This record gives sequence, structure tokens and C-alpha cells, in this order.
Amino acid sequence: MEIFRNRSQLTAYVERNREMGKVVGFAPTMGALHDGHISLYAAAAEENDLVISSIFVNPTQFNNNEDLIKYPRTVEADIKKLENSGFVHAVYLPEAEDIYPGGVVSKHYSFDGLEDQMEGASRPGHFDGVGTVVEELLRQVQPDNAYFGEKDFQQLAIVKKLVKLKNLPVTIKGIPTQRHESGLAMSSRNTRLTEAQRDAAKIIYETLLKVKDWFRVVSVSEINSRVTDIFNSTPGMVMEYFMIADEETLRETDFFYRDRSYRAFIVVFVGNVRLIDNMHLD
Ligand code: PAF
Repeated sequence: MEIFRNRSQLTAYVERNREMGKVVGFAPTMGALHDGHISLYAAAAEENDLVISSIFVNPTQFNNNEDLIKYPRTVEADIKKLENSGFVHAVYLPEAEDIYPGGVVSKHYSFDGLEDQMEGASRPGHFDGVGTVVEELLRQVQPDNAYFGEKDFQQLAIVKKLVKLKNLPVTIKGIPTQRHESGLAMSSRNTRLTEAQRDAAKIIYETLLKVKDWFRVVSVSEINSRVTDIFNSTPGMVMEYFMIADEETLRETDFFYRDRSYRAFIVVFVGNVRLIDNMHLD
């Protein structure tokens, strides 16, 4: 596996491979890799000649400095994991100046309202930061296909919108959330949980399964209050938001229309670790 530590090394490699007509798949990450990331590369390896990864902890998407400082940085272990997976041909480890040559600031985007609620509302500036780094990485790596996890479903929708708005010649593919045996969604943040917290956190998935059962059986407001009650009576956890939203517009719904698709979205603090999850409802 090739390792590129700056933009010019990466660009030369990409140009060489594009001239050879290789189809390129790419999945960007912030490191602290787990099997959820590896599933992106497994999918990419099936559909592309060349698979490229990137690891860059993007400062502009953190609205909370403590979260940025505490974000796990495990580059050497990540490189080994990528190598051992057998799916990845090259990893790009840019420096901040490779992504932000003019200084570490976000561009400002309008994603047709997809950014207005949930993570956009809770984390001001987050999607400007994500948009900035993803646009830059897509321009540098020039993939044919790029892979993003459904665990960050709003991010996935926004990246699809970004590509459309900027006319970037890449197809964005969403890959289902990978879960531990308990149902807890795989996340780099899980490493910050104690064993007891990790075990208790399965209640997030269990609650989403209950919501799936209640879907179109009880009202949206009744579901909302049942979910709120669950977390109000769970010690050590604070629910930041729960919302059932239209899967396409990502707007919260207060009624289930027959011809629309819906998804439940949730964020829960387990201790001081912020965990996010979602589930398609049908
Ligand atoms: O999902 C992530 O890990 C990040 O938001 C991404 C897409 C790599 C951009 O920094």
C-alpha cells in the first residue's frame, strides 16, 4: 500500500493511474478506523480498479474544541488496518496546508435546507467544514466513486447535494451502518466509552428498533414522547435529539404520509461521548 504525505505525491499518483484508465474508488476518513470504515473499502474494492483512503482530522467540522482535541488519533494503527484489509491501494495523509492552503477556514455552502436541522442545527458550521474538506479531497483524488457511511446519513445526503451543486464528476455511494453484536453502531467515538457505557449504549439501537415497530402504528408525537421517556429514565445518558424525518428532505415530520419514506435520527450523550445513529423506517 502506498502512503502519500502531501498533495503533490498524491496528485502524481492519481494522474498516472487515470492515464492508465483505472477506475478509482475513494473513501475519506478522520482515522481511528474500525470495521465500519473497512466496509466502505470492501465495497469500493468490488467496483473499482484502485481504492484510495484518506486520513485527516478536519478541524473546521468540529464546533467544539474539546471534541477536536479528544478525537482519537491512531494513524500508525490505521495504516496497518488498511494494509491488512487488502482492499486499499493507497492512503493519503494530508497536512492542513494541503487542504487549506489559504488558512484553516471553511467555505460557506447552502445545501437547499438539508443542513438546517439535526447535526446542522446542533453543530453550527459543521456542514460547512465537512463540505469544504470533502470538496477539496474529491478535487484532489478525482475518484469515479466515493463511499460514505449511512451512519452519518445527513452527511451522506449533503455530500450528494454538494457533488450536484458543484458538478463534480463522481458518484456518491452510501454504505449501510456496521454494528457491533449488541447493535451499537460502530464509531470512532466508541473507543472513548468505558466497557459499562459501551454495553449500556446498546439501548440506542434497541430504541430505534422499537421506533420501527411503532412506525405507522402510533402517532409521531407519541413515538417522540416514548423515546424521550426511555432516555429520561436511563442513568448516565442524555438524549440531545430524536427526530423522525422525511428521508429525502430531512425535514422533521409530524405525520406519516403514505407516499413518503421516513428515517429516525437520534443523538445521545453517553457520559460525555456524543453518539449518533439512525434507522430507515418501514
Ligand atoms: O465522516 C467522516 O469521517 C468525516 O466527516 C469526513 C467525511 C471524512 C470528512 O472529514
